[in-house]
Amino acid sequence: CGIVGYIGSNDTKEILLKGLEKLEYRGYDSAGIAVKNDDGVSVFKEKGRIADLRAIVDDSVSANIGIGHTRWATHGEPSQVNAHPHQSTTSRFTLVHNGVIENYAQLKREHLADVNLVSETDTEIIVQLIEKFVKEGLETEAAFAKALKELKGSYAIALLDNQNEDTIFVAKNKSPLLVGLGEDFNVVASDAMAMLQVTDEYVELMDKEMVIVTKESTTIKTLDGETVARDSYKAEIDASDIEKGTYPHYMLKEIDEQPAVMRKIVQAYQNEEGELSIAKDTLDAVNAADRIYIIACGTSYHAGLVGKEYLEKTAKIPTEVHVASEFVYNTPLLSEKPLFIFISQSGETADSRAVLVHIKELGHPALTLTNVAGSTLSREANHTLLLHAGPEIAVASTKAYTAQIAVLAILAEAAGKAKGFDMKFDLVQEMGIVANAIQTLTDDKEAFEQIARDFLSTTRNAFFIGRSMDYHVVQEAALKLKEISYIQAEGFAGGELKHGTIALIEDGTPVVALATQENVNLSIRGNVKEVAARGANTCTISMKGLEEEGDSYVIPHVHELLAPLVSVVPTQLIAYYAALHRDCDVDKPRNLAKSVTVE
Ligand code: G6P
Repeated sequence: CGIVGYIGSNDTKEILLKGLEKLEYRGYDSAGIAVKNDDGVSVFKEKGRIADLRAIVDDSVSANIGIGHTRWATHGEPSQVNAHPHQSTTSRFTLVHNGVIENYAQLKREHLADVNLVSETDTEIIVQLIEKFVKEGLETEAAFAKALKELKGSYAIALLDNQNEDTIFVAKNKSPLLVGLGEDFNVVASDAMAMLQVTDEYVELMDKEMVIVTKESTTIKTLDGETVARDSYKAEIDASDIEKGTYPHYMLKEIDEQPAVMRKIVQAYQNEEGELSIAKDTLDAVNAADRIYIIACGTSYHAGLVGKEYLEKTAKIPTEVHVASEFVYNTPLLSEKPLFIFISQSGETADSRAVLVHIKELGHPALTLTNVAGSTLSREANHTLLLHAGPEIAVASTKAYTAQIAVLAILAEAAGKAKGFDMKFDLVQEMGIVANAIQTLTDDKEAFEQIARDFLSTTRNAFFIGRSMDYHVVQEAALKLKEISYIQAEGFAGGELKHGTIALIEDGTPVVALATQENVNLSIRGNVKEVAARGANTCTISMKGLEEEGDSYVIPHVHELLAPLVSVVPTQLIAYYAALHRDCDVDKPRNLAKSVTVE
């Protein structure tokens, strides 16, 4: 799910294909480009990877206007026919779209009953609608605006008109889209990373805006045709940050970056006195709340589970953690003065954004923790805390998870300190110890490759168990293994497995236990014995000071509360090697998208 577009003087095919490669990390199952020259528009699209698309692009076609798309199927299976770009019946209009048009069936019934649709997509409805309005006498821009007004749902759109020499028509609602500026060219992209190859200057778009993009100009308009002025900004992404360098996979690179990310976060949140601090208005918002509601999805949700512990234990604020897609349709009874904390690596996840829109309507304040400055969730919340993890490209999140936990620890400490609580430990110093401990683990990769070989090479399923803080981490450990190795894995509270799921334990079933928390060390050890007695192949990863003979690995000692930052790393590496041993596509697992911009 990503869009690119280019209009300028150079041949656009390679620019579009390179841009789509940079968007690969977001996840997709088909891709396509459309390029336009004096002979008309040529469309190339294919199911599969960008490499498959490259193979069918006709090198002899030269053009300097074009649009491209990676698709993550929502309406209609992944196929060549359903891949974008889509064209209108006469082929005059060619369009790419991200998002979901909720009223597509109604639009089809009301406006396009006599049109023969070739795909199963909601997208084709948009391009046919535009053609219909043009046939009824409207100019392209007016037809585009009229069609957009009819759409309900989310969209990022780029449109080519065969009879309109040098324009890309662009629009956005709820799905991310940026316009990039260059000398003698302009570009369109779902995120700045895609087009960093040609420009680092971008203009944000707001919902329900359209842009008329030519080689020389970008004109933002409302759907009623009023021009909107907006300054551009420089995307502060180092081009080398988004290259793999000597690493075989982005995931491994990002796992290895975690010690540096921990240090960077500490630096970013240190004030002139070297103390960790959070902007006063953000801190006031946190401390004014009688209850915090953390909203997130996937890995970010798992970071939220750890964050709740910090906010309750360190800042003494009651905190709940909710999966965004559930919260929005089944909102719990809220406290009188709630604060919502959105945790999102990308800052674009549609499920989380739906909650943000909902709670803003209710008049509640919001704070977003995100890795992407200027992302939708950041722009629309009252406060933002940045993760400073650098671009995360691998679909399976690693460094963003530890960055989220680190920032939540800093936030909770600052909130607690502001309330006058005694912090009992020096977080700056402890974070330094954490960074060194992670480094020790990433330097010891062979050990985790061996664990993956011993425990996971042929299995169909695996269980992870932990108690207290470790319980939160094992849920993330299981998700990571599922995402990239396709081994069915579940993370359980150590004491809960025996209440049902233990029925699944057979001879050789792998059970990985985390043991980093002193007060539950004996209990988790007991749980390991329970499953071992039933034939499980057990692997215990403990923390120095709590280790026992027979443990598979002992991680360095860090402060118990911060143990998730360290204990997750072996599980990331084990998942990585398990996927590698099974020849899985580590960075781009099947069916997954990095940034899910549809609800
Ligand atoms: C997708 C990704 C997950 C990610 C989740 C939340 O499903 O595949 O890896 O954890 O979205 O993403 P966010 O950007 O909001 O943290």
